[in-house]
Amino acid sequence: MQLRIRRASRGDLPAFLEAYREAYRGLEEYSYSSRRRIKAYLHWLITRDRDGVFVAEVGEKLAGFICTDSRWISDTGKAVGAVHELVVLPDYRRRGVARRLMEAGLNYLREKGCNTVELWVGVKNHSAIRFYESLGFEAGDVVGRWRRMLKTF
Ligand SMILES: CC(C)(COP(=O)(O)OP(=O)(O)OC[C@H]1O[C@@H](n2cnc3c(N)ncnc32)[C@H](O)[C@@H]1OP(=O)(O)O)[C@@H](O)C(=O)NCCC(=O)NCCS
Repeated sequence: MQLRIRRASRGDLPAFLEAYREAYRGLEEYSYSSRRRIKAYLHWLITRDRDGVFVAEVGEKLAGFICTDSRWISDTGKAVGAVHELVVLPDYRRRGVARRLMEAGLNYLREKGCNTVELWVGVKNHSAIRFYESLGFEAGDVVGRWRRMLKTF
């Protein structure tokens, strides 16, 4: 599989929308379902830190994307790097796509001087939790249906 990671542009948003809907099938508890909400969310993601958004492609096809943010202030008041979103389409899973996307995202956050990375994952989203643990993220507190996970460089 010839996988390419590149920076995203606004032109990627329609493909992100379709990928997001497909990737979160079965995980509706942790995702937006209306097209309008997803569109607004994706717009917010790409506006937060445009340079921190990366796309994974196999040929011309989108396999996944990641949205990181080097200017995030955690609810604890600490400046951290954030991974706001990570999506891999079902057809491309368990082939290291998310790992490659995270590599690009974490390198970017490190270059921007972030030494802690924070993300929130659904408490029952076991695949994603295992994935983050495999990259050295540690479980933090739980707020409602979300678990905080943290990695320090
Ligand atoms: C979580 C997600 C991004 C993982 O993507 P992926 O490309 O399949 O992950 P990778 O192939 O890079 O996995 C790397 C490692 O993570 C772990 N991992 C990934 N998926 C796993 C699963 N379903 N069960 C157990 N471990 C898993 C494994 O250690 C895996 O290595 P291995 O395949 O050699 O065993 C993908 O399942 C997804 O898009 N889920 C829906 C959206 C989502 O939950 N996003 C995260 C929101 S916080």
